Amino acid sequence: MTRYAHITGWGMAIPDKIMTNDDISKIVDTNDEWIVSRTGIHERRIANAEETTASLATDASIQALQMANLPPEKIDLIIVSTSSPEHIFPATACLVQDSIGAVNAGAFDLSAACSGFIYALNVATQAIRSYSARNALVIGSETLSRMINWEDRNTCILFGDGAGAFVLQASEEPGGLLSAVMRSDGSGGNALSVPAGGSKYPTTAETVAKGMHYIQMNGREVFRFATRVMAHSSQEAVEQAQLKMSDINLIIPHQANQRIIEAAARGLNFPMERVMVNVDRYGNTSTASIPIATCEAVKSGRLVSGDKIILVGFGAGLTWGAAVIHWTGPFPGKRRVRPKSLRIWARFRSFLRRFIRRVEGKIWKGYF
Ligand code: UT7
Repeated sequence: MTRYAHITGWGMAIPDKIMTNDDISKIVDTNDEWIVSRTGIHERRIANAEETTASLATDASIQALQMANLPPEKIDLIIVSTSSPEHIFPATACLVQDSIGAVNAGAFDLSAACSGFIYALNVATQAIRSYSARNALVIGSETLSRMINWEDRNTCILFGDGAGAFVLQASEEPGGLLSAVMRSDGSGGNALSVPAGGSKYPTTAETVAKGMHYIQMNGREVFRFATRVMAHSSQEAVEQAQLKMSDINLIIPHQANQRIIEAAARGLNFPMERVMVNVDRYGNTSTASIPIATCEAVKSGRLVSGDKIILVGFGAGLTWGAAVIHWTGPFPGKRRVRPKSLRIWARFRSFLRRFIRRVEGKIWKGYF
């Protein structure tokens, strides 16, 4: 029997701290007029010392689970798409697994930069469609403010922090993710990268002195690439779903730059009134931008059950992709997720497991 992966829950988390263009102009040689006219960005959110990629991901996930009425132990798969993981390993997805108490889930991170959420949605959908998972949690989460050179005006004006999450659930009813296009071109890898901190350039005093642990970007090259691929991949995803552009109610693009979004809409001959834009308030939150924009589209009534939408993005890699979704909403059922008790129970469980591991270590010590 054909199985579909419906999006039944969604949630977002953004830091409280707002950084305006005027705030940035006190740090580097820039101004509000330049930033707004070149990017459409007015302000972005910046994580405080306690907020991390995993903590934002956890907050967004709990909201999504609550929306879906799905207790965490029912999740089989967690994918965190991120370019600012908490560590090289363990995966941020495992930290989220622990903090929400998803005791039956496999968890891994996916690295496809700003296109990552579309990649992750597709991977989770395929797991559901092939019967290897029934319920999946897909999260896009970033704290790129930690990887920005706050003396580089080319990059520090663009990025912001945040997270968004979707719950995907199996159903025999047609709907959910109808098609997905995933593409890459590694020849453009150096257009947008964090060169050091991996195995090629392990962190040393020299890499730090050269600022190789910061985001480095050729803005013009990324801009040209983005305007080339957004419209084309959207079209491809629509054809793959056996639909026409006229069937699409809303496009939710990666929120990198207002001008890129407008160019994509022009390329598709699609009215801007039906394109979701919130880059003005959050800047570029990389892989989190699409799920955050989706949450806001639902909240504002621009996305309703029954709509067919395109998600489309591009980013470092280079990577790009698009997906067509038949938006349905939560499965019927009574509320089973209470965020407060979920957090308390998950924390207690995590503490207990650590404690047991310590006791086990003491017992086994005698045998080795
Ligand atoms: O998720 C993917 C992430 N990356 C992107 O989406 C980036 C895509 N690229 C862009 O969004 C745009 O290329 C930028 C917004 C980064 C730059 O806009 P642009 O219109 O391509 O500007 P530019 O790089 O061509 O720079 C124009 C001028 C330069 O001065 P000169 O060389 O013409 O004298 C820059 O030095 O603007 C200068 N400039 C700035 N001036 C004031 C660059 N950054 C700033 C700044 N404030 N923040």
